[in-house]
Amino acid sequence: MVRPVSRVLRLGCVLAFCFQVLVPCGLPGAWGLDNGLAMTPTMGWLHWERFMCNVNCQEEPDSCISEKLFQQIAEIMASDGWKDVGYEYICIDDCWMAPERDSEGRLQADPKRFPGGIRHLADYVHSKGLKLGIYADVGNKTCAGFPGSFGYYDIDAQTFADWGVDLLKFDGCYCDSIQHLAEGYKQMSLALNRTGRSIVYSCEWPLYMRPIFKPNYTEIREYCNHWRNFPDIYDSWESIRNTLDWTSSNQKIIVPVAGPGGWNDPDMLVIGNFGLSRDQQITQMALWAIMAAPLLMSNDLRSISPEAKALLQDKDVIAINQDRLGKQGYQLRKEDNFEIWERPLLNLAWAVAIVNLKEIGGPRSYTITLTSLGRGLACNPNCLITELLPEKRKLGFYEWTSSLKTQINPTGTVLLRLERTSSAQFSYSVVSDSL
Ligand code: GLA
Repeated sequence: MVRPVSRVLRLGCVLAFCFQVLVPCGLPGAWGLDNGLAMTPTMGWLHWERFMCNVNCQEEPDSCISEKLFQQIAEIMASDGWKDVGYEYICIDDCWMAPERDSEGRLQADPKRFPGGIRHLADYVHSKGLKLGIYADVGNKTCAGFPGSFGYYDIDAQTFADWGVDLLKFDGCYCDSIQHLAEGYKQMSLALNRTGRSIVYSCEWPLYMRPIFKPNYTEIREYCNHWRNFPDIYDSWESIRNTLDWTSSNQKIIVPVAGPGGWNDPDMLVIGNFGLSRDQQITQMALWAIMAAPLLMSNDLRSISPEAKALLQDKDVIAINQDRLGKQGYQLRKEDNFEIWERPLLNLAWAVAIVNLKEIGGPRSYTITLTSLGRGLACNPNCLITELLPEKRKLGFYEWTSSLKTQINPTGTVLLRLERTSSAQFSYSVVSDSL
């Protein structure tokens, strides 16, 4: 059975064609630091939110910042499916250093907690097929008070390269002026480049500029592979919500600058910890995929629940995060305590997330008109819709002019993938569905 193509659908086809032509003209959305790295958002694990600055290995040997922690996490990342789905970088945050530089001015790891040194740890991590990240600070001290890199950018970049480090998170505490902050971030980027080693450069430059100056994102993305804009994430719904609110309020500025090589970083995934309900964890995973955010988990992979593990390892959601079109999604609208976000994907597909922000009552239904999605083209002339979260299920084929009813738990999210289908495919599937 071939359905007559309506006038509305014909108009849709024309728009779809224009869009198909226009999208390549808009590419690349934005190119970042030209070091060939982070062509899709970085994936891995970072110790800060879960383990913070615990240096007490006597009393808490399993959760202090030590080579043992990173070796155990690396081992699990390699053997428990994490590496297979793309989590690759195992990253050390603050508090790994000895309180003083060595006699030649080089940073050194705390000898008690990292007896083998960082080179040894990097070798171990590499032997597992993973990469190692490290942390330093543009100013005079790290945020936790360890030696800063100010005045030592070249030495520190070379030290990290000599050790075999693959990513540097560069913090912005204890910098005495905005000029030094900006210069320092640039100088470290150039210093890393001069080492000749491929080192992903993760900045907090805009976050530390913001109280005084408007960040120049065109410049920032020329020097950094990703950049933090907003204060530290906590293991709480309030923190996730604040991060999302800040992102949507600033999306006009920050969304266009994201693209292959340079990403906005809304901070770590706290899924698998203590503060988020199941629905809130789903919201974080779905929205970090929509935002093309680095997926840096901060949790204890040694004791994570099977549910949190399955969510973090969800290949379909990761595929949205890692989509090669490299365009960050945005909030489309907000009404009646629902937020609708969408992200364009390769092959004219779209991801759509609907968040129920109401923190009272039970599941609420939201009906979405498909013509409103993807600049009017996501479902044009018709599309196959798959729900990815909270459950994976094919919802079927929908016409452009139809609508979709969803049910969403309080603080939860429904994440959908919309694939445009040609009229022929659609007619065929209608025929085969009715057989
Ligand atoms: C700052 C950063 C955090 C973390 C701590 C470490 O607060 O924003 O991500 O690195 O410093 O001290």
